[in-house]
Amino acid sequence: MTLIRIPQAWEISENQITPPRLYYNRRRFIKTLIGAGIGASVLPLAGCQAGTAVGKSASQTALEASLDLPPIDVAQNPKFAKVNRPITTEEIAGQYNNFYEYGGNKKIWLDAQKLPTENWQVEVTGLVKNPRTYDIDDLKQQFPLEERIYRFRCVEAWSMVLPWIGFPMKALIEAVEPTAKAKFVSFTSFYDPEITTGPTFHLGSLPWPYTEGLRIEEMANDLAFFAVGIYGHDLPKQHGAPLRMVTPWKYGFKGAKSIVKIEFMATQPATYWNTLDPNEYKFEANVEPDVPHPRWSQATEKFISTGPGLSWEIKETLPYNGYGEYVASLYA
Ligand code: MTE
Repeated sequence: MTLIRIPQAWEISENQITPPRLYYNRRRFIKTLIGAGIGASVLPLAGCQAGTAVGKSASQTALEASLDLPPIDVAQNPKFAKVNRPITTEEIAGQYNNFYEYGGNKKIWLDAQKLPTENWQVEVTGLVKNPRTYDIDDLKQQFPLEERIYRFRCVEAWSMVLPWIGFPMKALIEAVEPTAKAKFVSFTSFYDPEITTGPTFHLGSLPWPYTEGLRIEEMANDLAFFAVGIYGHDLPKQHGAPLRMVTPWKYGFKGAKSIVKIEFMATQPATYWNTLDPNEYKFEANVEPDVPHPRWSQATEKFISTGPGLSWEIKETLPYNGYGEYVASLYA
């Protein structure tokens, strides 16, 4: 097992001294050269054709198009600027996704391009004093955006480090003012059976739409974040455009993508995976290395950072994914 190396204070990563947009654009430029056959290809991941010296494959072109999105220039929040692992390469993160509405394998980044993000609205409703339906642009303007570098740990025991752009969930809580009766919050993902056709064997038997939930204290925690961007630009469809949840101390399935509705409630809402199998997927779903999933250990994880191809290092999993100082008191 590789032990996690604690970096020294003087080890400042490049993304801390370069504005995010310039930094990621430079990374993309280097990767484009790689995709064009200069250097090793990063593309065997997810069955894509590798770029060749004579031109890009169709899937490389489609992948680049899916990641080529309007930039968002924001400052990094220094409190969440660094973790002791490198940021995962954008093209790796952008084609190793879970988004069951579009399929049940790790090749869904292309199918997810069907997601219609135009004129997106998010309804905030339930036990709040100020219910409101936000246009996505209003949300982005009303709540100051920032970049946060977070660890990401999937329940399937793989992990990444991702540079999200968004705003703290507690800012939305302050805007809509939940009533005293509000104890839980439910988040609903976009669902349209004409578009989100998913794996065929799932049709009719899965509890669509995808929903997730938090206790209101969890939503008010400093770490809880709504992402509208990643890698210095708008959120790609495969990552859950245009709005998704990011709760880095919990397994990745808690992070509902492409949110259309947020409802404040008095009782714990039903959630997608927990409804499917409450034994395997708890409502709380905090990262707990000592508590094995019924079918595999959670003590270690495959940390996916850079190519070429899909490669990883085995790392120890940390309680609360390393965020205990922020959240442990919620579960005392
Ligand atoms: N949200 C929706 N709507 N549908 C999904 O299938 N998968 C979850 C989560 N959010 C999922 C979802 C799971 S299991 C994981 S690990 C993360 O999204 C993956 O996020 P990523 O593809 O951006 O890495």
